[in-house]
Amino acid sequence: MVQPVRKAVFPVAGLGTRFLPATKVMPKEMLPVVDKPLIQYAIEEARDAGIEDFILVTGRGKNLMEDHFDHAYELEAILMDRGRAGDLDTVQDLAPGSGQLSYTRQRRPLGLGHAVWCARQFILGEPFAVISPDDLVLSTPGCLVQMIEAYNEVGGNVVAVEDVPREQTNRYGILDVESDDGRLAKAKGLIEKPDPAEAPSTLSIIGRYILQPEVFDHLDKHETGAGGEIQLTDAMAKTIGNIPFHGFRFSGKRFDCGTKAGFVTANVAYAMERDDLSDEIRESIKAFL
Ligand code: UTP
Repeated sequence: MVQPVRKAVFPVAGLGTRFLPATKVMPKEMLPVVDKPLIQYAIEEARDAGIEDFILVTGRGKNLMEDHFDHAYELEAILMDRGRAGDLDTVQDLAPGSGQLSYTRQRRPLGLGHAVWCARQFILGEPFAVISPDDLVLSTPGCLVQMIEAYNEVGGNVVAVEDVPREQTNRYGILDVESDDGRLAKAKGLIEKPDPAEAPSTLSIIGRYILQPEVFDHLDKHETGAGGEIQLTDAMAKTIGNIPFHGFRFSGKRFDCGTKAGFVTANVAYAMERDDLSDEIRESIKAFL
């Protein structure tokens, strides 16, 4: 019986430089896909997976996210006056309950591993999930629900993986695979952003993790890795041997919304899933092409 996953960390303190100038003032995680900011998709995915405590690691210029999850009294009063019950529900239901949402600060964006380390006081010896809001996964059930099912079978550390073209291995954490049943790949090592010629596989880690608290033993050391950043991959790699480590091939389609092409594609894909939009969007795109 594995310890249940009740907490999730959302690292949202990065600079989003690949998305400038949009992210000069606006946090990348507030970019909307159709009509919802990325961070809200991430919170909803976690909520659907039974997460009870949501920890956002924010940074300078990220206050919009806190505002997004607060009550908007004036807006709610106006919507109520105008009888806009549907819109009122939309804005009232989007946040976790009081006391379930916590914020901590990463004072400088020193890397994903450092951002996760900043949440250490909230984790206190429990397994936890990490969701990068800029990786959006379109799937039913959600990616984290699928991962928790897999975690309940194998325990330890479980990360979401997908195969990428070999020329892209230098963008991801890559698994060195010991055994693979097509759904779960057991790793004997991990390498962050290897050159394609040196990558041990093409199985790459995307922004979904279930981690045991032992990862903090390694993050505590603040060792820098690829790109001079404190890498989560390096800390996870050091737990292999003590804790089982599996890559889980989720079902669904991932969009890297940290890139312009990924973000635009996600907008089209999510719009096509919507009954109120799909016909219009399909016609517009057809006409445009
Ligand atoms: P990315 O590396 O994709 O985000 O990190 P970035 O650094 O903001 O983007 P670019 O490369 O400059 O365009 C994935 C997630 O980790 C968070 C980011 O906010 C993003 O959600 N992150 C990254 C942090 O919270 N702190 C960091 O130091 C780095």
